[in-house]
Amino acid sequence: MPNAIPAGLDEACLARQVDRFYEKVRVDPLLGPVFNAMVDDWDVHKVLLTSFWSTVALRSGHYRGNPLAKHQPLPIGAAHFQRWLALWRETARAELEPESAALLIGYAERIGYGMRVGMGLTGHLRGRESGIPIRALQSAQPVKPPAAVPRRPATTSR
Ligand code: HEM
Repeated sequence: MPNAIPAGLDEACLARQVDRFYEKVRVDPLLGPVFNAMVDDWDVHKVLLTSFWSTVALRSGHYRGNPLAKHQPLPIGAAHFQRWLALWRETARAELEPESAALLIGYAERIGYGMRVGMGLTGHLRGRESGIPIRALQSAQPVKPPAAVPRRPATTSR
């Protein structure tokens, strides 16, 4: 079932989120060089990405494209996705109501994970970056099986 659309979330909120996010991306030491080599017109990119997010979050259907195909030729790895998501989360929490921020962060985590799978970039980040809090994967300690429960001697009930 698709997520419900939070009452306060509209196209203008998404445009603001996209605008603030890409202002950080373009000056980011890791992401900036990749984007600046590909994006000639940032206004056009932001309009396209707002249409993408309005299709995802508001189900507007404005975006027609193939994001995976666009990312496959890029010189990027798991660290780029990690940084991208960190900036997306930070921006969403600063710009949006908590419910809308949580929704957009959840979508980005799932879409980012799908892209990384499609690009063969899952590796050791799999559990954590999918947004699924798998504690065992985040811990350096191996998970110990529970201690064996001593067996009670059989009793006869007479
Ligand atoms: C959840 C993560 C991401 C999402 C949802 C996302 C989404 C998108 C979308 C929808 C487009 C437009 C594709 C089109 O032209 O139709 C795009 C373009 C682009 N993305 Fe991402 N992206 C993500 C992660 C990244 C990362 C980690 C990088 C690497 C630094 C990146 C770099 C780019 C670049 C350079 C373009 C422009 C490509 C071009 O003009 O050919 N993206 N992204």
